Amino acid sequence: MVTRIVDLRSDTVTKPTEAMRAAMAAADVDDDVLGTDPTAELFELELAKVMGKEAAVFVPSGTMGNLISVLVHCEVRGSEVILGDNSHIHVYENGGISTLGGVHPKTVKNNPDGTMDLQLIEAAIRHPADALYYPTTRLICLENTHANCGGRCVSVEYTDRVGELAKRHGLKLHIDGARIFNASVALGVPVHRLVQAADSVSVCMSKGLGAPVGSVIVGSKDFIGKARRLRKTLGGGMRQVGVLCAAAYVALRDNVRKLENDHRNTKIFSDGLKQIKQLTVDSTSVETNMVFFDIVDSSFISPEKLCQLLEKHGVLAMPASSTSVRLVLHYQISESDVHYALTCIKQVINQVSNEVGQNGGA
Ligand SMILES: Cc1ncc(COP(=O)(O)O)c(C=O)c1O
Repeated sequence: MVTRIVDLRSDTVTKPTEAMRAAMAAADVDDDVLGTDPTAELFELELAKVMGKEAAVFVPSGTMGNLISVLVHCEVRGSEVILGDNSHIHVYENGGISTLGGVHPKTVKNNPDGTMDLQLIEAAIRHPADALYYPTTRLICLENTHANCGGRCVSVEYTDRVGELAKRHGLKLHIDGARIFNASVALGVPVHRLVQAADSVSVCMSKGLGAPVGSVIVGSKDFIGKARRLRKTLGGGMRQVGVLCAAAYVALRDNVRKLENDHRNTKIFSDGLKQIKQLTVDSTSVETNMVFFDIVDSSFISPEKLCQLLEKHGVLAMPASSTSVRLVLHYQISESDVHYALTCIKQVINQVSNEVGQNGGA
């Protein structure tokens, strides 16, 4: 029988703390669609301040945060957005910007560090004065940290340069900052400085920060006014939402400071994985709370099979591709959990090695 669970599927799996539950129970609430929920108002003001922007609006998910942001920046149907080919918005958000907003995605190759080459971004821009068969570019999107690039951080210098490029061409810059606090902590750059060049940022409260639900969009007062209207259109207006904002407030207050320890534990994890000869890890890419590892010979054991066998030990993980597995840490994973999970991975690899008659040595 499994007695210990170490859930490494994502940083979205955290359970609300006692402090969050207490804050939710005690939250002063009213109808936020009528604009009178005091806890929502306080939380949005606080987050806008922390992010260095004029205003903020709480939304149910990161997906809705990105969708609303892109749609507000691209009010004219048939607008084009430049974004990474490996970005969350492009790969994992149901193509919502196209199906719901009539926004055309123009992808640019993501480098392994999550950036896109500035020359490629510039070459992708299409102006209204160009040939009449081109859509008009209105927006550039970055992602920080970049999830599909191993949780790597996009630097403030790079972000500023993309911001300058956008300005020069009359475009807006949106950052999918689902894990922007992880980037800020890892880079040692205050979060408001990191996103200074952006016109809007979508920040997830329910990833590494551990709130049960919700994301926040930040931007100018005018932008957030439009975002609020669009949130309602999409069915995301929530009445007594202060209950959720109260938990998110605690997450912001208590958990940003825990991210550094998550990053340290992730390094310990990747160093441990490096010792297992059937696996490869690019430890230089481990900058925050994610580690991706490859199985050297996936005919020996597939990522699916490895995850299934680990589950029997209570270690939960998800395949990332036909050869790799992704592990994501958060503040409810201790250093002892990391060592336990490493022991289980070694054990499973050894067991399979012995079964197929290979030399274990994990
Ligand atoms: C980088 C990134 N952006 C956006 C999202 C979407 O967030 P949600 O799952 O809250 O819709 C995720 C979710 O994992 C993400 O990793």
